[in-house]
Amino acid sequence: MTVIFLIYSETVDITNYTIKDIPGSSGRLDVISRCILAALIGENEFDKNTQVWVFLDKLGTYFFDPNVLDFETFPKNELKLTDYFVDLIRNRNSKEKLRNNPLRVVRTSEKGVRETLKEVLKLNYKKYILHEEGNDFFSKLKSILLEKDVIFIIGNQSGDIMNLEEILASDLPILSLGNRSYLASSVIRLIKLHLLTPLQ
Ligand SMILES: C[S@@+](CC[C@H](N)C(=O)[O-])C[C@H]1O[C@@H](n2cnc3c(N)ncnc32)[C@H](O)[C@@H]1O
Repeated sequence: MTVIFLIYSETVDITNYTIKDIPGSSGRLDVISRCILAALIGENEFDKNTQVWVFLDKLGTYFFDPNVLDFETFPKNELKLTDYFVDLIRNRNSKEKLRNNPLRVVRTSEKGVRETLKEVLKLNYKKYILHEEGNDFFSKLKSILLEKDVIFIIGNQSGDIMNLEEILASDLPILSLGNRSYLASSVIRLIKLHLLTPLQ
C-alpha cells in the first residue's frame, strides 16, 4: 500500500524568511516541514510506503517521494528541512543552484493546486478527506487496509484546503480520528500507525 498525504497552504510566504524565526517569517512553513518529517521518516530509514504532495499557493507543488530521496543526506530536523525547502522553492528552476541541496531530487510542478487537484481527483486511487467532523476512521480501517493506494487530503494549521471549491464540490468521504483537533503532523503519525504498522 502507498499512502499519500496531500497538503495545501495559502499562508506560506518566504519573502522575508529567516531561520531565526521560521513560523513568523515563512507563513508557517514549519507546519509543512513537520508533516513531511512525520510522513517520510521511519525508524532509521524512510517509510517507503508514504509520500507527501505539498501545494503552496503561488510557490509551486512539491512531490516528496522517499523512493527518490537519499536517507543519509535527507535533513531530519525541522530547522534544516525548512532551510533546504526554502532554498528549493527559491531555486526550483535552477539545478545548478541546487547541486548541494539534498531536496534537489524532489519533483516540482508550477501547476496550481486547483489544476492539479482536478487531476488528482481523477486518479484511480482511493481518496479521503481528513477532518474533525467526519465519519469514524476506525470503522473504515479494515476496508482501507485492502486498498492498494490511498490519498489522504489533510489541512494545514488553518485547514486552507478545506475551503477550496474543488474539495467542497467533491463527494469524497470525510474521515475523523475523533472530535479532538490534532496537529496535522500528529494526524499523519496516527494514520501511519494504523495503516502501515500491520504491513511491517
Ligand atoms: C491543526 S488541524 C486544522 C484545524 C483548523 N481548525 C481547521 O480549520 O481545520 C490540521 C488538519 O489536521 C486534520 N485533523 C485534525 N484533527 C483531526 C481529527 N480529529 N480527525 C481527522 N482529521 C483531523 C484536518 O485535516 C485539519 O485540517
